[in-house]
Amino acid sequence: MDTLNLKDQWVVVTGASSGLGREMAIQLATQYQANIIIIARRTQQLETLKEEINKLCHSEVIIFTLDVSDTNAVKTFSEHILTKYDIRALVLNAGLTYFGAHKALDLTTKNQILNVNIHGSLEMLTIFNNHFVSKKSPSGILVISSMGAYHPVPYQALYSGTKAFLFNFAYALGFENENPNYQISIYTPGGIQTEMTSDKKFNKLKSWMMPVNIAAKEAIKTLINRKRVYIPGFFNRIGNYFMHLIPKSWIGSQMAKMYKKSLGTNA
Ligand SMILES: NC(=O)c1ccc[n+]([C@@H]2O[C@H](COP(=O)([O-])OP(=O)(O)OC[C@H]3O[C@@H](n4cnc5c(N)ncnc54)[C@H](OP(=O)(O)O)[C@@H]3O)[C@@H](O)[C@H]2O)c1
Repeated sequence: MDTLNLKDQWVVVTGASSGLGREMAIQLATQYQANIIIIARRTQQLETLKEEINKLCHSEVIIFTLDVSDTNAVKTFSEHILTKYDIRALVLNAGLTYFGAHKALDLTTKNQILNVNIHGSLEMLTIFNNHFVSKKSPSGILVISSMGAYHPVPYQALYSGTKAFLFNFAYALGFENENPNYQISIYTPGGIQTEMTSDKKFNKLKSWMMPVNIAAKEAIKTLINRKRVYIPGFFNRIGNYFMHLIPKSWIGSQMAKMYKKSLGTNA
């Protein structure tokens, strides 16, 4: 499959108001000359991002305020956008996490995490996938999962569960696709320095987190190079290789110790 040329093509980026999504939107516009449709709940952040991109390049930027936990709104948005624009790629990036003991999570928080990371993402992925499967022009979806999909993370148990769902679903779906011009790519980063990991509870884990500009650069390469799955960072890839050779129970207990230490009194 040829690389995906995004020059002057429309790309949808969810969760573009901060972190990885924001940085991917900037790089897609400034380095790949893509036109972008940026989505999140915080409209003001999206407006600021649009102004920033407009100063840097001539790519078109369209803003949509959308709560991806609302599956009806996701359906309406997706159908509208695919009818109105010739979309070439979707970057399914919006996600929610927490850091702490599962017993401390209230029902609202648990449902919000499930609704964003699973229900909303699943709805958008399904609609865009159905569209791209039947399209003749080259297209792609980049699903942002996590290394937590391979190695369940204590104190982020629900989060890593949702990322494993997303990984397994998108991976399996990719093999149902018989369109040689369309690829579902899955990106599985380790820790990244973003708003998501800015809380002081993450302090002891920050030293091994990837700068967001590098994580974004690798993510876009995963999409345009049509990779099925990609882990960014040499040490993440080596670590992942060895972690598959070691008993999962040992990894789980070591991760629990490390994460509990970082949580400190919040555990
Ligand atoms: N940071 C890490 O260490 C790390 C590691 C592995 C994977 N990831 C994954 O990378 C992706 C991006 O995370 P990040 O680190 O960049 O975090 P972030 O800075 O917190 O960004 C999360 C984005 O998701 C959006 N979002 C959250 N809930 C939403 C909702 N209900 N509707 C619409 N948008 C929503 C947020 O926008 P609004 O709040 O404006 O809606 C924001 O733009 C996530 O899928 C995350 O799981 C992150």
